[in-house]
Amino acid sequence: MLTSENFRPRLACEVQIQGGEISLVQNGLEMVLDPDGSSFEELRSFLDHIDGKQTIGDIQQKLDASQHHRFGTLLEDLDRHRLLDDAGSTRMRSGSEALLKLEDYTNTLLEERYYGNVYWSNVLKNPEKCPPGAFYGLAIENYHFLFRESMFDSPVLPYLSNNRVRLLMNEFYVEEYGHDEIIVKSLLSLGITRDDIRDMLPLPETLALCNALAYWGATDPLFFFSTLGVLEGKNPEKDHWIEACEKAGLSPAFIKPMRAHSDINRKGEHGNLTRLIFAEIQAIGDETLARMQRQMRIFVEMYNDFYCAIWNFYSPIKDIGAALVRRLSAI
Ligand SMILES: [Fe+2]
Ligand SMILES: [Fe+2]
Repeated sequence: MLTSENFRPRLACEVQIQGGEISLVQNGLEMVLDPDGSSFEELRSFLDHIDGKQTIGDIQQKLDASQHHRFGTLLEDLDRHRLLDDAGSTRMRSGSEALLKLEDYTNTLLEERYYGNVYWSNVLKNPEKCPPGAFYGLAIENYHFLFRESMFDSPVLPYLSNNRVRLLMNEFYVEEYGHDEIIVKSLLSLGITRDDIRDMLPLPETLALCNALAYWGATDPLFFFSTLGVLEGKNPEKDHWIEACEKAGLSPAFIKPMRAHSDINRKGEHGNLTRLIFAEIQAIGDETLARMQRQMRIFVEMYNDFYCAIWNFYSPIKDIGAALVRRLSAI
């Protein structure tokens, strides 16, 4: 028998009663309850007690001594099949509250591990002296990232837990579709041809980021949503990277498409999407928040690696055009 004093069992599923049978439904999965010696009414009354307001001791006091064993077995079975929550010890926050906590944590990580990295410290503090390859490299790897965006955005499109979240994500997906082609215009201005683009390989760090996001999209949608705020959440007033391109004296033909993409993000308030999504989520438990924080640490490391790899690979390249292309055909 589950005996913890503070344990206030609460059903983590819906109860459906039809034709003398009781079913428990969780995530679309329906399980018919085996009466196991209890009458239908007894079973229904057992389930009514599992409301998260009473401890096991409270409930037992209301039952006959002869029912204690059967009630205990039912609780153990429900627990084994993950159909029970503990309302006594699980601390819940609203989605927005949980996100604020996660954002605080993320901002600390970004301060410690990202804003001062080799890429941003060179590009933002000293754009005039920055090798142009650092800017071109970001455009190229950004292209690779956006080209694969459907790979990591699409797993969350059928998000079944919340209609409003599903709609928000689908709207975002439609808005993002084809953004790789905007970046292609910048690449063409550098003398990179369509044939080069077809033959072009991303840096391993870029592909790692895409693959990790696809994995999180498929296995942990809630965490995936939280990464969008970092990926899309640039300064809503101005894009410092575009400003740095101008200070570095890069050609308008290169900058214009990059600015067009940045403007779509800022005007479409893509940086705000994570907050809109979490505002629709009613409750997030401590365990989920802790899991998201652990994963955020890995995500920020990968995001930092993405920019550092761009600096390391592209900034030494002095020429434009084919010289910037990592070729599949060269392997
Ligand atoms: Fe985009
Ligand atoms: Fe965007």
